[in-house]
Amino acid sequence: MTDIEELLLSRIRDVADYPEPGVMFKDITPLLADPAAFTALTDTLAQIAERTGATKVVGLEARGFILGAPVAVRAGLGFIPVRKAGKLPGATLSQAYDLEYGSAEIEVHAEDLTAGDRVLVIDDVLATGGTAEASIQLIRRASAEVAGLAVLMELGFLGGRARLAPALDGAPLEALLRI
Ligand code: PRP
Ligand code: MG
Repeated sequence: MTDIEELLLSRIRDVADYPEPGVMFKDITPLLADPAAFTALTDTLAQIAERTGATKVVGLEARGFILGAPVAVRAGLGFIPVRKAGKLPGATLSQAYDLEYGSAEIEVHAEDLTAGDRVLVIDDVLATGGTAEASIQLIRRASAEVAGLAVLMELGFLGGRARLAPALDGAPLEALLRI
């Protein structure tokens, strides 16, 4: 494990039985509160943005906003929010996806992504991959290209990487930590 990986892992708090019994929640608030760790995370993700040739950064509401916005600034790229449905005032593209119980919907302003954009999607956690998959579908429907998906943590036992392979279509999935 590299020094940066050790630093990041040391600032993620395990919270048992949250939000429901049997779930181990990965709390990133200690990492956000530590400027050295948050800066290391931002710099590492900004290097991925540069390496993948991204022209825009998409952050997934809500925790993907916290991680993605400073990366966009650091990499000198525009930041595009993908929001939970009903929060964006302009013309949107929407994408529904299934949750364990029920479904959810995310949206992006249609004018924010166009042909010729190469988009790096940033989120905190890759779990089942449903949220990331829906965001990739939105990007492609806007005629933009997917430069890659970068997450702080991949929960490998939930199989998100395999689920995302067809949607990513060869674009890289970079997980700084695999848990
Ligand atoms: C969490 C997490 C990821 C997503 C991963 O978001 O931040 O965005 O779930 O799960 P998946 O891979 O199974 O789709 P959530 O909407 O629960 O909370 P947030 O609004 O705090 O980001
Ligand atoms: Mg989230």
